[in-house]
Amino acid sequence: MKTRKLKDLIVSEIGIGCMGFSHGYGQIPTEEYSIEAIRKAHDFGCTFFDTAEVYAPNLDPNLKGHNEKIVGKAIKDFRKDIVLATKLHLPTEEVKSKGVYETLRAHLDKSLKHLQTDYVDLYYLHRINPEVPVEEVAEGMGRLIKEGSIRGWGLSQVPVKIIDKAQKVTPLSAIQNIYSMIERGVEEEVIPYCLKNNIGFVPFSPIASGFLSGKVTVNTEFEKVDDVRNFVPQLKKENIAANQPILDVIGRFAKAKEATNAQISLAWMLHKYPNVVPIPGSKNQGRILENLGAWNVELTNEEFNDLETALNACEVHGHRGFDESEGRSFLQVKHK
Ligand SMILES: NC(=O)c1ccc[n+]([C@@H]2O[C@H](COP(=O)([O-])OP(=O)(O)OC[C@H]3O[C@@H](n4cnc5c(N)ncnc54)[C@H](OP(=O)(O)O)[C@@H]3O)[C@@H](O)[C@H]2O)c1
Repeated sequence: MKTRKLKDLIVSEIGIGCMGFSHGYGQIPTEEYSIEAIRKAHDFGCTFFDTAEVYAPNLDPNLKGHNEKIVGKAIKDFRKDIVLATKLHLPTEEVKSKGVYETLRAHLDKSLKHLQTDYVDLYYLHRINPEVPVEEVAEGMGRLIKEGSIRGWGLSQVPVKIIDKAQKVTPLSAIQNIYSMIERGVEEEVIPYCLKNNIGFVPFSPIASGFLSGKVTVNTEFEKVDDVRNFVPQLKKENIAANQPILDVIGRFAKAKEATNAQISLAWMLHKYPNVVPIPGSKNQGRILENLGAWNVELTNEEFNDLETALNACEVHGHRGFDESEGRSFLQVKHK
C-alpha cells in the first residue's frame, strides 16, 4: 500500500468516505455491517477515514454524531495507526454568544466523544459561514493544533481567495472540494494553489455519486428516502444518457487495464496529481475494497495522456456540485 502526504499527515493513497453509512445514498446498512466494512477497509490497507458531525439519517440535528459514533466504534482498536478526519459547521448564533475558538472547542469536544478518541488528525470547516471571517477560524484551529487536540486542519468546498486568507494565518493540511472526471473546476486554481503551498487535496464524490462506475443507468430508480441522487443534476435521466460517451471512454480503459470503471476514475486522478487523495464512498463492503484496489491500477504516462485526451473531447452535461458550490445543501434544494 502506497502512501501520500496531506502536509504532515501520512495517509493511504485512497481513503474512505463514511457518509453513506448514515446519510445521502438511501437506506443505510446496519451498524454491525458498517463497522465491519470500516474494519475490512483497514485490513485491506486503508488508513484514512472521513466523517462529519452532521452525517446522520436525513441530516436530522437530533441524530448528530450518528456517523462519528459508527466510525469511533469501528476504529477503536487501531485508532493510533490511522488518520481520522471530521468536519464541523459554525452556526452564527453560537459564534456570536461564545466566540469562534470556544465554538470550535465545543464542537470538537462533542466529536471526540463520539469518535472515542482524544484527538482528531484533520479537522475541517465543512462550509464557510460568510458571517464568520475565515481568518478567525484559522486562528482558532491554530490554537487547537498547539493544544494537541487536532493535528491539522482543512476547509471544504472553498475557492482560492478563501483558502489564501486562511493559509496565511494557519497553514492548511487539506482542502476537501468536489472533484471527479466530470466535475473539474478545481483544476483551474484550487489544485495548483494546493500544490504550490504543500496542501493536500481530498476530492469528495470522486466517482460522481456512482455515475462513473457505469452502474447507474437511465433506468436506475434512486431511493425515495435520504438519497441525494434525486437532486444531483448530473444524474437526471437526460444527463445520464448524454454523458454516455464519457462512460464509453472509461470502459475502454477499464477493459484494457483489467480494472473496473470506478477504479479507472480514481487511478486517473492519482496519476494526475501527487497531492490528491480521493475518498470514495460506498455502503457496500465489496465496492469499498474495489475502490481501494484502484491504488494497484497504475496508468503509464502514455495511457494517462490518451485517457485525458479522450475525456477532454467529451462534453459534460449537468453538474454534480452546482448547488453545493453555492453553499446550499441538497436538502435545502429539495425544499425550495
Ligand atoms: N465535504 C463535503 O461537503 C462532502 C460532500 C459529500 C461527500 N463528502 C465525503 O466524500 C465521500 C464520498 O462522496 P460521495 O459518497 O458523495 O461520492 P462517490 O464516492 O462519488 O459516490 C458514492 C455513490 O457511488 C456509488 N459507488 C461507489 N463506489 C462504487 C463502485 N465501485 N461501483 C458502483 N457504485 C459505486 C455508491 O453506491 P453504493 O453505496 O451502493 O456502493 C454511492 O451511491 C462521502 O462519503 C463523504 O465522506 C464530503
